[in-house]
Amino acid sequence: MEKFSGFYKLTIEERMKLLKSECKLSEEEVKILLDTGSLSHEAANHMVENMVGATHIPLGIAPGFVVNGKEYVVPMAIEEPSVIAAASKGAKLAKECGGFTADADEPVMMGQVQIVGMGKDALAKFEKNKAEINAKAKELCAQMEKYGGGLRGVGARILETNRGSMLIAEFAVDVRDAMGANTVNTMLEGVSPLIVEKCGGKARLRILTNLALLRKVRAKCVWKKGVVSEEEIEGILDGYALAANDIFRCATHNKGIMNGIDAVAVATGNDWRAVEAGAHSFAAMGGYRPLTRFHKDGKGNLVGEIELPLAVGTIGGSIKTNPVAQISLKILGAKSARELSMVMAAVGLAQNFAALRALGTEGIQAGHMRLHGANIAVIAGAKPEEVEKVAKKLAESKEYSAENAKKILKGLRGG
Ligand code: HMG
Repeated sequence: MEKFSGFYKLTIEERMKLLKSECKLSEEEVKILLDTGSLSHEAANHMVENMVGATHIPLGIAPGFVVNGKEYVVPMAIEEPSVIAAASKGAKLAKECGGFTADADEPVMMGQVQIVGMGKDALAKFEKNKAEINAKAKELCAQMEKYGGGLRGVGARILETNRGSMLIAEFAVDVRDAMGANTVNTMLEGVSPLIVEKCGGKARLRILTNLALLRKVRAKCVWKKGVVSEEEIEGILDGYALAANDIFRCATHNKGIMNGIDAVAVATGNDWRAVEAGAHSFAAMGGYRPLTRFHKDGKGNLVGEIELPLAVGTIGGSIKTNPVAQISLKILGAKSARELSMVMAAVGLAQNFAALRALGTEGIQAGHMRLHGANIAVIAGAKPEEVEKVAKKLAESKEYSAENAKKILKGLRGG
């Protein structure tokens, strides 16, 4: 693999030549890799290191999401069938009941500076010099102030570990419509020498936390009895009870929620890994639990709620360089990061509602596999005009395999 040393220094043409010969790629395969779609080679090359192509994820829309009285068309980028259909179904039934209500905290991110090897009086020294440390941190994120953001708080604590005591200085910054990682990390690196000067020791990690506990979002919907049948409500409540009491189900329950939230994050150019880390660490606080809650109100309606931290932005590096992200934000029409996060929370709740509704009644496979059938038809070699017919026959046979699709295709073609 020495041939790949310095790969990043090569032009894209040189990289493809080397990759082609070392990995035995065909002309056609190189051509496929280099089809970067709406991303120019130059943009893609600046987004990641050693760029040799782009992979494509379908983009769809889930229409009819009413959140706080405003109707949204929600862009979702995902490779899995039935997720967008399920979100749309949840939104449609929610709309018939007045839609979702949602609220979000101010967009405040937190970051940590880890100090090791300091004396026993480090915390007292931090407290004594807090005003100066605060002033320095404030100055370092002053550019946020013109947008209404900026430093919101400073604190410190001692953490006992198997590597000894550590001073953990924590900073909260309102990052407005950015995700905020760059702002926070730059500030943390800038303020750490002052902390060391005042408290002693050595600065190690200076990084934001993805558990964005001060940046939580909540959404709620009351699905009315009648719009949702009593049997569906009972099924959803039983499914929720399993997730609330069993970690094996809870993992899948939360995965279903993130199907929707991640798809909006990817469509809008947001860091879905950060979103995932925040959601699951939040769910694990005090024992891993569902990100949603369901109960029946006094009238027999189904009340669904979701709460989670959501660090997403509507401006920033990769959003700017990705034209599809820009267009997705235009389709969505969210005016701020908070508004985007509220819609995402509603999507997560709708997704979970639809999955539980299907799981608790006819089962997930009927709807999911009906839609996945088209995928199987394509894999089996169906032409565009044949896909629907093959998918229909797969559904009738209830045997969703490529083998069966090939058999059906042969039959359709008169073979
Ligand atoms: P249905 O009741 O047959 O739908 O549900 P319908 O034909 O009555 O249509 C009602 C609405 O659903 C439509 O309204 C659309 O909004 C939407 P309309 O546009 O007609 O006015 N809809 C669709 N939207 C786009 N494309 C479609 C489509 N079909 C319906 N083809 C549905 C069908 C698939 C929605 C239902 O069966 C469902 O919600 N299933 C759940 C599917 C699901 O959750 N998939 C996620 C992937 S599986 C997974 O990984 C997660 C999981 O493990 C999580 C967990 O365990 O909790 C399940």
